[in-house]
Amino acid sequence: MHIFELINSASKKLKSKNISSYRLDSEILISKVLGKKREEILINDHQAVKQTEIEEFSNLIERRLLKEPIAYITGEKEFWSKSFEVNRSTLIPRPETELLIEKLIEIYKYKNIDILDVGTGTGCILISLLSEFKNSFGVGIDISKSALKIANQNAKKNEVINRAKFILKSIESNYDKKFDLIVSNPPYVKRVDLKNLVEDVKNYEPKLALDGGNDGLDVIKKVIYKSKEILKVNGRLALEISGEQKYKVSEILFKNNFRLENIIKDYNRIYRILISKKLK
Ligand SMILES: C[S@@+](CC[C@H](N)C(=O)[O-])C[C@H]1O[C@@H](n2cnc3c(N)ncnc32)[C@H](O)[C@@H]1O
Repeated sequence: MHIFELINSASKKLKSKNISSYRLDSEILISKVLGKKREEILINDHQAVKQTEIEEFSNLIERRLLKEPIAYITGEKEFWSKSFEVNRSTLIPRPETELLIEKLIEIYKYKNIDILDVGTGTGCILISLLSEFKNSFGVGIDISKSALKIANQNAKKNEVINRAKFILKSIESNYDKKFDLIVSNPPYVKRVDLKNLVEDVKNYEPKLALDGGNDGLDVIKKVIYKSKEILKVNGRLALEISGEQKYKVSEILFKNNFRLENIIKDYNRIYRILISKKLK
């Protein structure tokens, strides 16, 4: 069988399961099996594929047919133009989180800062920031030991490990220093809404990364209360939220002596990022 035939037949199967990225997914998975870049595969799609590779490809397509996210199948995801290792203990980094990175780079360009990333997961936020702020240092915390292992590997791979530390702890623990910037993309889905998430997310991504408690605000509140204590004066707190939480979270920030500086909408025009400054 030839590459194009495999791509065509896999695309058809994925399409029949309403997987909208059917062609792209087929191309990505055949690239993984053949160990070549997608672009390279596409210009050589008349080449024959060995039987063992056909079987391997077919296994990967079976996983995708069950709605397993493509990033878990390939074991990686691109974020801020870098490759991040992912597995089922980590949330798959989302493009909207890049909006947070973009804004923070604008704010902190040429500054050396101490960063705390709460709920670091793959480490994508902290690692991307450290790769831009060459003389800055950061700590990533998470309550998932397996996620922290991945974050460590990602920091090594992206060459910031000498400026990043990953620690197993929850946000409400004690800290022995203060930070210039606290960033967090906390779990913020309301518990009742978890069952309504799309299958790829609901059945595969870690509940620990999604479940924000009854009102979705459990961890967000903890992050705000702790930030009040461990941010330096004029330090900033950058939070990713779900759109409907904007008013509630702004109110909590205001009551805790934070001034909202930036409100950023995502690609679907939904409020997604709140950046606020801790006042005296
Ligand atoms: C939505 S994921 C974000 C992962 C990553 N920062 C990103 O943006 O892709 C939330 C992360 O917070 C972690 N987490 C949940 N509760 C926490 C807590 N109380 N303290 C620290 N981390 C927590 C989860 O294990 C998960 O890795």
